[in-house]
Amino acid sequence: MRMRRKKHGAERIAACSAILIEQNAAETVDPSVFFPVSRPLHLEIGCGKGDFAVGMAAKHPDCNLIAMERVPDVACIALEKAMAKKDTRPDNLRFLIGDAQTLTDRFLPHTVDRIYLNFSDPWPKKGYAKRRLTHRGFLEAYRNLLVEGGTLYLKTDNEGLFDFSLEEFAACGLTVERLSRDLHASEIAADNVMTEYERNFSEKGQVIYSAHVRF
Ligand SMILES: C[S@@+](CC[C@H](N)C(=O)[O-])C[C@H]1O[C@@H](n2cnc3c(N)ncnc32)[C@H](O)[C@@H]1O
Repeated sequence: MRMRRKKHGAERIAACSAILIEQNAAETVDPSVFFPVSRPLHLEIGCGKGDFAVGMAAKHPDCNLIAMERVPDVACIALEKAMAKKDTRPDNLRFLIGDAQTLTDRFLPHTVDRIYLNFSDPWPKKGYAKRRLTHRGFLEAYRNLLVEGGTLYLKTDNEGLFDFSLEEFAACGLTVERLSRDLHASEIAADNVMTEYERNFSEKGQVIYSAHVRF
Protein backbone atom coordinates (compact mmCIF):
# COMPACT_ATOMS: atom_id res chain seq x y z
CA MET A 1 0.00 0.00 0.00
CA ARG A 2 1.49 3.32 -1.10
CA MET A 3 0.59 6.55 0.56
CA ARG A 4 1.82 10.09 0.93
CA ARG A 5 4.19 10.48 3.85
CA LYS A 6 2.30 11.43 7.00
CA LYS A 7 3.03 14.71 8.67
CA HIS A 8 4.31 14.12 12.22
CA GLY A 9 4.02 10.37 11.57
CA ALA A 10 6.59 9.40 14.21
CA GLU A 11 4.91 11.55 16.88
CA ARG A 12 1.48 10.21 15.99
CA ILE A 13 2.72 6.62 16.23
CA ALA A 14 4.43 7.40 19.54
CA ALA A 15 1.10 8.72 20.86
CA CYS A 16 -0.31 5.22 20.36
CA SER A 17 2.42 3.51 22.39
CA ALA A 18 -0.19 1.93 24.72
CA ILE A 19 -1.13 -0.51 21.97
CA LEU A 20 2.12 -0.67 20.03
CA ILE A 21 4.65 -3.45 20.46
CA GLU A 22 7.85 -1.48 20.52
CA GLN A 23 10.94 -3.56 20.15
CA ASN A 24 14.23 -3.81 18.38
CA ALA A 25 14.11 -6.01 15.30
CA ALA A 26 16.46 -8.35 17.19
CA GLU A 27 14.09 -8.81 20.14
CA THR A 28 11.50 -11.55 20.37
CA VAL A 29 7.85 -10.68 20.92
CA ASP A 30 6.74 -11.97 24.32
CA PRO A 31 2.90 -11.84 24.35
CA SER A 32 2.80 -11.96 28.16
CA VAL A 33 4.47 -8.52 28.24
CA PHE A 34 1.87 -6.93 25.94
CA PHE A 35 -1.37 -8.66 26.86
CA PRO A 36 -2.73 -8.53 30.42
CA VAL A 37 -4.47 -11.89 30.00
CA SER A 38 -3.07 -15.00 28.31
CA ARG A 39 -5.34 -16.16 25.48
CA PRO A 40 -4.90 -17.92 22.12
CA LEU A 41 -2.69 -15.71 19.98
CA HIS A 42 -3.77 -14.64 16.48
CA LEU A 43 -1.58 -12.70 14.04
CA GLU A 44 -2.74 -10.63 11.08
CA ILE A 45 0.03 -9.96 8.56
CA GLY A 46 -0.39 -6.82 6.44
CA CYS A 47 -3.21 -5.28 8.48
CA GLY A 48 -3.40 -2.11 6.38
CA LYS A 49 -5.62 0.54 7.96
CA GLY A 50 -6.82 -1.83 10.68
CA ASP A 51 -10.58 -2.32 10.16
CA PHE A 52 -10.28 -6.10 10.38
CA ALA A 53 -8.00 -6.06 13.42
CA VAL A 54 -10.19 -3.62 15.36
CA GLY A 55 -13.36 -5.52 14.38
CA MET A 56 -11.95 -8.96 15.19
CA ALA A 57 -10.52 -7.90 18.55
CA ALA A 58 -13.94 -6.56 19.57
CA LYS A 59 -15.77 -9.62 18.24
CA HIS A 60 -13.40 -12.17 19.80
CA PRO A 61 -12.40 -10.98 23.28
CA ASP A 62 -11.34 -14.58 24.01
CA CYS A 63 -8.29 -14.19 21.70
CA ASN A 64 -5.26 -11.89 21.65
CA LEU A 65 -4.52 -10.37 18.26
CA ILE A 66 -1.29 -8.87 16.96
CA ALA A 67 -1.76 -6.86 13.77
CA MET A 68 1.46 -6.48 11.78
CA GLU A 69 2.06 -3.89 9.07
CA ARG A 70 5.33 -2.99 7.41
CA VAL A 71 4.51 0.56 6.30
CA PRO A 72 4.63 2.89 9.34
CA ASP A 73 2.31 5.52 7.84
CA VAL A 74 -0.33 2.86 7.13
CA ALA A 75 0.14 1.35 10.60
CA CYS A 76 -0.34 4.87 12.00
CA ILE A 77 -3.91 4.97 10.63
CA ALA A 78 -4.67 1.54 12.11
CA LEU A 79 -3.19 2.54 15.47
CA GLU A 80 -5.19 5.76 15.62
CA LYS A 81 -8.36 3.88 14.66
CA ALA A 82 -7.83 1.44 17.54
CA MET A 83 -6.95 4.24 19.98
CA ALA A 84 -10.12 6.13 19.00
CA LYS A 85 -12.16 3.30 20.48
CA LYS A 86 -11.75 5.14 23.81
CA ASP A 87 -13.99 3.45 26.45
CA THR A 88 -14.29 0.20 24.56
CA ARG A 89 -10.64 -0.05 23.47
CA PRO A 90 -9.93 -3.77 23.50
CA ASP A 91 -7.14 -5.06 25.74
CA ASN A 92 -6.59 -7.94 23.32
CA LEU A 93 -5.20 -5.98 20.35
CA ARG A 94 -1.64 -4.83 19.76
CA PHE A 95 0.17 -3.60 16.66
CA LEU A 96 3.62 -4.46 15.40
CA ILE A 97 5.35 -2.40 12.73
CA GLY A 98 7.55 -4.70 10.70
CA ASP A 99 7.99 -6.96 7.70
CA ALA A 100 6.77 -10.55 7.56
CA GLN A 101 10.28 -11.45 6.38
CA THR A 102 11.40 -11.02 10.00
CA LEU A 103 8.68 -13.22 11.56
CA THR A 104 10.88 -16.10 12.61
CA ASP A 105 13.29 -13.69 14.31
CA ARG A 106 10.55 -11.83 16.12
CA PHE A 107 8.29 -14.63 17.40
CA LEU A 108 9.11 -17.64 19.51
CA PRO A 109 8.45 -20.89 17.65
CA HIS A 110 5.00 -22.46 17.99
CA THR A 111 3.36 -19.61 19.90
CA VAL A 112 0.76 -18.42 17.37
CA ASP A 113 -2.61 -20.19 17.02
CA ARG A 114 -3.86 -18.53 13.86
CA ILE A 115 -2.52 -16.34 11.06
CA TYR A 116 -4.74 -14.07 8.97
CA LEU A 117 -3.70 -12.96 5.47
CA ASN A 118 -6.20 -10.45 4.10
CA PHE A 119 -5.86 -9.15 0.55
CA SER A 120 -2.11 -9.63 0.51
CA ASP A 121 -0.22 -8.00 -2.33
CA PRO A 122 -0.53 -10.43 -5.29
CA TRP A 123 2.89 -9.77 -6.87
CA PRO A 124 1.56 -10.99 -10.26
CA LYS A 125 4.92 -11.12 -12.05
CA LYS A 126 6.39 -14.62 -11.94
CA GLY A 127 9.80 -13.30 -10.93
CA TYR A 128 8.30 -11.90 -7.72
CA ALA A 129 6.50 -15.10 -6.64
CA LYS A 130 8.73 -15.44 -3.58
CA ARG A 131 7.33 -12.17 -2.24
CA ARG A 132 3.78 -13.52 -2.12
CA LEU A 133 2.84 -14.14 1.50
CA THR A 134 1.57 -17.63 0.60
CA HIS A 135 4.81 -18.66 -1.14
CA ARG A 136 6.16 -21.89 0.36
CA GLY A 137 9.06 -19.95 1.88
CA PHE A 138 6.57 -18.00 4.01
CA LEU A 139 4.46 -21.11 4.66
CA GLU A 140 7.51 -22.81 6.19
CA ALA A 141 8.07 -19.75 8.38
CA TYR A 142 4.40 -19.93 9.45
CA ARG A 143 4.81 -23.63 10.23
CA ASN A 144 7.57 -22.70 12.62
CA LEU A 145 5.46 -19.94 14.19
CA LEU A 146 2.19 -21.81 14.55
CA VAL A 147 1.30 -24.27 17.27
CA GLU A 148 0.71 -27.86 16.19
CA GLY A 149 -2.63 -27.84 14.33
CA GLY A 150 -2.60 -24.04 14.01
CA THR A 151 -4.53 -22.41 11.19
CA LEU A 152 -4.07 -19.90 8.39
CA TYR A 153 -7.10 -17.92 7.15
CA LEU A 154 -6.70 -16.40 3.70
CA LYS A 155 -8.97 -13.89 1.95
CA THR A 156 -8.29 -12.31 -1.42
CA ASP A 157 -10.01 -10.78 -4.42
CA ASN A 158 -7.24 -12.08 -6.69
CA GLU A 159 -8.00 -15.41 -8.35
CA GLY A 160 -4.41 -15.81 -9.55
CA LEU A 161 -3.05 -15.40 -6.02
CA PHE A 162 -5.75 -17.72 -4.67
CA ASP A 163 -4.94 -20.53 -7.14
CA PHE A 164 -1.22 -20.06 -6.54
CA SER A 165 -1.86 -20.27 -2.78
CA LEU A 166 -3.81 -23.53 -3.12
CA GLU A 167 -0.88 -25.02 -5.07
CA GLU A 168 1.57 -23.89 -2.41
CA PHE A 169 -0.61 -25.31 0.40
CA ALA A 170 -0.70 -28.66 -1.40
CA ALA A 171 3.06 -28.58 -2.04
CA CYS A 172 3.62 -28.05 1.71
CA GLY A 173 1.24 -30.90 2.65
CA LEU A 174 -1.30 -28.56 4.26
CA THR A 175 -4.99 -29.36 4.57
CA VAL A 176 -7.53 -26.90 3.21
CA GLU A 177 -10.51 -27.34 5.53
CA ARG A 178 -12.81 -24.69 4.11
CA LEU A 179 -12.72 -23.11 0.70
CA SER A 180 -15.02 -20.66 -0.98
CA ARG A 181 -14.78 -18.90 -4.31
CA ASP A 182 -17.54 -16.53 -3.19
CA LEU A 183 -17.05 -15.91 0.52
CA HIS A 184 -19.94 -13.48 0.90
CA ALA A 185 -22.40 -16.01 -0.55
CA SER A 186 -21.05 -18.85 1.62
CA GLU A 187 -21.78 -20.00 5.17
CA ILE A 188 -18.41 -18.51 6.32
CA ALA A 189 -19.88 -15.05 5.70
CA ALA A 190 -21.73 -15.11 9.03
CA ASP A 191 -18.43 -14.81 10.96
CA ASN A 192 -16.77 -12.50 8.49
CA VAL A 193 -15.26 -9.15 9.48
CA MET A 194 -14.63 -6.94 6.45
CA THR A 195 -11.33 -5.30 5.64
CA GLU A 196 -10.98 -1.97 3.81
CA TYR A 197 -9.95 -3.69 0.57
CA GLU A 198 -12.73 -6.22 0.91
CA ARG A 199 -15.35 -3.48 1.22
CA ASN A 200 -13.99 -1.68 -1.84
CA PHE A 201 -13.83 -4.80 -3.99
CA SER A 202 -17.26 -6.03 -2.88
CA GLU A 203 -18.84 -2.69 -3.69
CA LYS A 204 -17.49 -3.12 -7.23
CA GLY A 205 -19.15 -6.55 -7.47
CA GLN A 206 -15.89 -8.51 -7.17
CA VAL A 207 -16.15 -11.96 -5.53
CA ILE A 208 -13.95 -12.74 -2.56
CA TYR A 209 -11.96 -15.99 -2.32
CA SER A 210 -11.37 -17.61 1.04
CA ALA A 211 -9.49 -20.62 2.40
CA HIS A 212 -8.97 -21.96 5.92
CA VAL A 213 -5.85 -24.08 6.11
CA ARG A 214 -4.62 -26.34 8.90
CA PHE A 215 -0.94 -26.91 9.59
C1 LIG B 1 -3.32 -4.78 -0.34
S1 LIG B 1 -3.07 -4.19 1.25
C2 LIG B 1 -4.42 -4.92 2.19
C3 LIG B 1 -4.62 -4.24 3.51
C4 LIG B 1 -5.68 -4.88 4.42
N1 LIG B 1 -5.27 -6.20 4.84
C5 LIG B 1 -7.03 -4.94 3.76
O1 LIG B 1 -7.45 -6.04 3.41
O2 LIG B 1 -7.67 -3.90 3.61
C6 LIG B 1 -1.69 -5.17 1.79
C7 LIG B 1 -1.05 -4.64 3.05
O3 LIG B 1 -0.04 -5.55 3.47
C8 LIG B 1 1.13 -4.85 3.81
N2 LIG B 1 2.25 -5.78 3.56
C9 LIG B 1 2.63 -6.24 2.35
N3 LIG B 1 3.69 -7.06 2.47
C10 LIG B 1 3.97 -7.11 3.80
C11 LIG B 1 4.97 -7.77 4.55
N4 LIG B 1 5.90 -8.53 3.95
N5 LIG B 1 4.99 -7.61 5.89
C12 LIG B 1 4.06 -6.82 6.51
N6 LIG B 1 3.09 -6.15 5.84
C13 LIG B 1 3.05 -6.29 4.50
C14 LIG B 1 1.13 -3.65 2.88
O4 LIG B 1 1.93 -2.60 3.36
C15 LIG B 1 -0.34 -3.29 2.85
O5 LIG B 1 -0.70 -2.42 3.88
